[in-house]
Amino acid sequence: MRRIIYASRAVHDFTDSDLVNLLLRARAVNEDHHVTGMLVYSARSFLQLFEGEEFDVEVVWDRIRLDDRHIDLRVLQDGPAGSRQYADWSMGFEHVDAAELERTLPGYRASVAYPFVSAELVARADTAETLLSLYARRS
Ligand SMILES: Cc1cc2nc3c(=O)[nH]c(=O)nc-3n(C[C@H](O)[C@H](O)[C@H](O)COP(=O)(O)O)c2cc1C
Repeated sequence: MRRIIYASRAVHDFTDSDLVNLLLRARAVNEDHHVTGMLVYSARSFLQLFEGEEFDVEVVWDRIRLDDRHIDLRVLQDGPAGSRQYADWSMGFEHVDAAELERTLPGYRASVAYPFVSAELVARADTAETLLSLYARRS
């Protein structure tokens, strides 16, 4: 098992229908590859964790990296995983607004652009993991 957590910047504001389209496609592929995980979108930035068998994770990772709707991908964590954190989710999702993120992410100011790509978060995979699991519980 392998798990990757990364953050990226959306190239434009994603509407809810943009997000639904992205998720429909992502979930279908993830189901085929038995890849599970969680995606959060906030203030034009993405934070995503996905996990599965080594080969399947590589297939999905290639797809994610090739998608030109986001740029500036930063890997927070990439390595072996003992077990799945999101076993029942082909891709959980939450859209979190900046004010809400300010309440959940220590030290974050809503005026900061692209919150998930901030140097502080990129250096703190454990904080990112906690955030993802917090939002997953609400979904
Ligand atoms: C933020 C983000 C997250 C994504 N997550 C996944 C994912 O979990 N699984 C996947 O297969 N593709 C994922 N993708 C890639 C797209 O789903 C996929 O490349 C796109 O829909 C084009 O696919 P198609 O050309 O095969 O239709 C993601 C893309 C972005 C921008």
